[in-house]
Amino acid sequence: MKTAFITGGSQGLGREILAAFSRRGYYVYATSHRGEVVLPGPGKVIACDLSDPASIQKAFVDIGRLDVLVNNARLDPSSRRPEDDEASWFDRNIAVSLRGSYLCALEAFRIMSEQAPAGGAIVNVSSVRGIIPNDRARIPYGMAKAGQISLTRSLAALGGPRGIRVNAVLPGAVMTENLMRRAGAQRLAAVNAAIPLGRPGSMAECAETVLFAAEQTYMTGASLNVSGGLLMQ
Ligand SMILES: NC(=O)c1ccc[n+]([C@@H]2O[C@H](COP(=O)([O-])OP(=O)(O)OC[C@H]3O[C@@H](n4cnc5c(N)ncnc54)[C@H](OP(=O)(O)O)[C@@H]3O)[C@@H](O)[C@H]2O)c1
Repeated sequence: MKTAFITGGSQGLGREILAAFSRRGYYVYATSHRGEVVLPGPGKVIACDLSDPASIQKAFVDIGRLDVLVNNARLDPSSRRPEDDEASWFDRNIAVSLRGSYLCALEAFRIMSEQAPAGGAIVNVSSVRGIIPNDRARIPYGMAKAGQISLTRSLAALGGPRGIRVNAVLPGAVMTENLMRRAGAQRLAAVNAAIPLGRPGSMAECAETVLFAAEQTYMTGASLNVSGGLLMQ
């Protein structure tokens, strides 16, 4: 049975990615932070705070074979607290959404290197926000998402000879429960108007793309833009 390690499966896109890999027959390791993770099939929930390097190291300690890592978790870019000054808001975003991805990718890369030539696949769930401009509050989020694209390309180059493929998926707006809860009719209309296909992507559409990125055997270093045309490249 193939194995996949997926970060941030308590809600939103992560929960849908867990379901997609389970349906595909993977045994899934899912990280749990504050929210509850419900496994849709065979697998194991691993407590992990991605802002804590020791916690990440511990999360990978007992992983034997690993076919896929999906770096999906992020710090919610709407979660700025009154006590966050610019430096701490930046640091919190980078610690979870970029350094967390980096350290998980290095752990997976180490395990997958030992599996050469079979290798494995790493998928970084980035965002079009790593490429297009962001509003003032989300600049650190966009910087973290841009960093994931750079991480993808560097590890793809290093991993190729070991059979390790590394790709990024760049969703635009995704119809998660957060978006549904937070966006009023007016905001949704504005979101739709900015997207050539006229609507946010569904979680299933994005999760299927992550699965594709993990399994396509002749693709590495790619950034798959799944944004309904919000970004065109
Ligand atoms: N939603 C969109 O419209 C959209 C658009 C483009 C790209 N994306 C990307 O898609 C991915 C998923 O987005 P989403 O909207 O589903 O995210 P989300 O609803 O904000 O969920 C984020 C997940 O990350 C986990 N997480 C947060 N802090 C953590 C920490 N310190 N340690 C471990 N896990 C932590 C959360 O777990 P807990 O609940 O347990 O804290 C949660 O499961 C992200 O990488 C995001 O950048 C999303």
